Amino acid sequence: MNSTSATSIVQLLKENPQNAKLVLLGGIIIFVVVTFFQSINKSRKVKPAIGITEPTAKLNKNRKFGHWIPDYEFQTPIPPAFENWSIKETRPIPYRAFKHKYAINMGIRNMEWDSWFELDNEWEKFHIHKLERVEERGTELYQTLPPARDAVYELLDEMWQYLPNRYPTLFKQKEYGLDNLVTGEVHVFKEGFRTEKQEDPALTAAKMIQDDFAIMMENEEGVYHLKAGAILLAGFWRLKDKLNMPLSMIHTSGDVPKYNEKLKSGMEKFFIRQPCDKPVVRNNYFIQTDDHLPWSTSIGSESEEGIGWYTAEPATHAEQLYFRSERQSLRRLPKSGAIVFTVRTYFLPIAELAQEPYIPRRLLNGMSTWDTDVQEYKGWHKYKDVIVPYLEEKAREQEANGLVQEKEVYPF
Ligand code: HEM
Repeated sequence: MNSTSATSIVQLLKENPQNAKLVLLGGIIIFVVVTFFQSINKSRKVKPAIGITEPTAKLNKNRKFGHWIPDYEFQTPIPPAFENWSIKETRPIPYRAFKHKYAINMGIRNMEWDSWFELDNEWEKFHIHKLERVEERGTELYQTLPPARDAVYELLDEMWQYLPNRYPTLFKQKEYGLDNLVTGEVHVFKEGFRTEKQEDPALTAAKMIQDDFAIMMENEEGVYHLKAGAILLAGFWRLKDKLNMPLSMIHTSGDVPKYNEKLKSGMEKFFIRQPCDKPVVRNNYFIQTDDHLPWSTSIGSESEEGIGWYTAEPATHAEQLYFRSERQSLRRLPKSGAIVFTVRTYFLPIAELAQEPYIPRRLLNGMSTWDTDVQEYKGWHKYKDVIVPYLEEKAREQEANGLVQEKEVYPF
């Protein structure tokens, strides 16, 4: 209460003592209530780190773009061991990420920390592909630009916790990094053990997982750019074409359908706001007209410019068709603030997929609802004359056997 309001209450007491008492009583009640709620709020606050006056999670909400405040309080949960996981027996998760009706949206869901990296009995096959690719094309396929160096080492530190805990029969934690118990590879990357001739940390990370990955970093305008990554098995896009690009150009340069109308704004907001404790996943799918996981040769040579579905030969038989589906994850690293984007590809022949109950009809329905721009992007005209009769026949066989009422099971 300031001196002016105190003077006016004395005045009021003299002129109208009854009203003045009421005003005074009201003031006291408001003061007590406000003080009570303030004290509750104070006791809820997280203890700030040394030298920082407020919790970093909160500070980062109002950060100056491009100036992430390291969050030393956040710890990625350590996952339990994957029960009975075996490099020979554990089968890939059968993501069947298509609905009867196709829709363009971000399609993100919360991710369970335990599932950050999904490894299975295709690990060795993926690993061999990765090593061959690096031998053949070298740094075209992986890069760590200087501003992303700390972020990639931070990613490795996170893997150092995650991988040996989740897959203890494949990785062993060492002071210097991780040992691979199956291949005998020794990955040295922890601080204090790195040498002059250290390999690119993005390559080290890529050798341990089945995924490709990209590191996205925020600039002073709040725009995210691709600053590091290892894109070894992406099938139809090249790291060297997209390195250093902002998120929007990565997508528009690839003619992603309705990117500006339906995705751009939501994605940009999502990147700025994503908190460290809220990782997400999304799935997609494509049809490929050859069986090459690392690079889809049917669209053209990886060494050439001006390639795409428009340079592909039309498919002639169902056996050459493959189902390619990605499971992507996005999480923010607490110290650097960089966002890690992982892309795990699942790849199998359409003929195998079409054996699964209800799948031929669902896939056929989904593809039949693609708009013209989605058809262009996914190369529909290069395989529709083969895939439509093939899936129709398989669907009818299943329906004749009574398989007609599928429950919605997306994304599996
Ligand atoms: C919320 C995050 C994201 C969403 C919702 C999203 C969405 C999409 C969509 C809808 C497509 C078309 C194919 C598909 O259906 O998946 C696509 C393609 C693509 N996205 Fe993303 N994306 C995200 C993050 C990223 C990030 C962080 C990168 C960084 C490398 C990236 C790189 C690409 C590339 C390279 C393509 C292929 C473009 C081409 O054909 O050249 N995306 N994305």
